Amino acid sequence: MQLHQSTWAEVEAYLEGSKGIVVPIGSTEQHGPNGLLGTDAICPEVIAKHAGDESGILVGPTFNVGIAQHHMGFKGTLTLRPSTMIAAMYDWVASLRRHGFESIYWLNGHGGNIATINAAFAEIYSDGSLELDGSNAVPLKLKLMNWWELPGIMKLCEKMYPKGHGSHATPSEVSVTYYAYPDAVKDVEMSPKIAPVGPIRDAADYRRRFPDGRIGSDPSQANIEDGEKLVKAAAKALAQDFGKFCAREG
Ligand code: NI
Repeated sequence: MQLHQSTWAEVEAYLEGSKGIVVPIGSTEQHGPNGLLGTDAICPEVIAKHAGDESGILVGPTFNVGIAQHHMGFKGTLTLRPSTMIAAMYDWVASLRRHGFESIYWLNGHGGNIATINAAFAEIYSDGSLELDGSNAVPLKLKLMNWWELPGIMKLCEKMYPKGHGSHATPSEVSVTYYAYPDAVKDVEMSPKIAPVGPIRDAADYRRRFPDGRIGSDPSQANIEDGEKLVKAAAKALAQDFGKFCAREG
């Protein structure tokens, strides 16, 4: 069940049975020679949609621009400053709370978002913690889960790509997007076959170190079949983890 494809009355009815929602969160940034700019948003979106279709979980609209200042040397990348992203996440959560949601599960697709998502959580929790009576009157739980850290997923990636998985523009994430959008499959030769590794700093430094955008990866291994396996496994793991989270166990 997807929020943006539901009516207000359907969301009201959903809230009678569950106070939980999954919000995919990602980035719009370069993903190497054969990866889509939307990769980090598409991956959590398609996994959450699959879980939502199978398990009836409500999935919110995708928060699809994140912290990508280091990718700004590549055309098409969009970025938020950390302070802007914290403010936007604050208002998303405030809106959901207003309607009665208590368990908000952020399924993330971009490593560069992690620090800022956690900072946003601290900002949001501070409202309750700083109340004079310290009562935290409205129950609220937030969770960050990176899709590749869902139980079993990294093992599956390592099995699929023993060489050249890397950390940016990886064959696993590109495979997920190819499964979601088969018309987007691209056949591009990588040179060098496996990209260099190194630290991430600002946009100019990144472009110098990683000229085609990849870090440590060979995404020419990406294919639709792997993407399908990854989405199905991740969606199953997400549904289980979300269930525990809403039951206040996770
Ligand atoms: Ni990515």
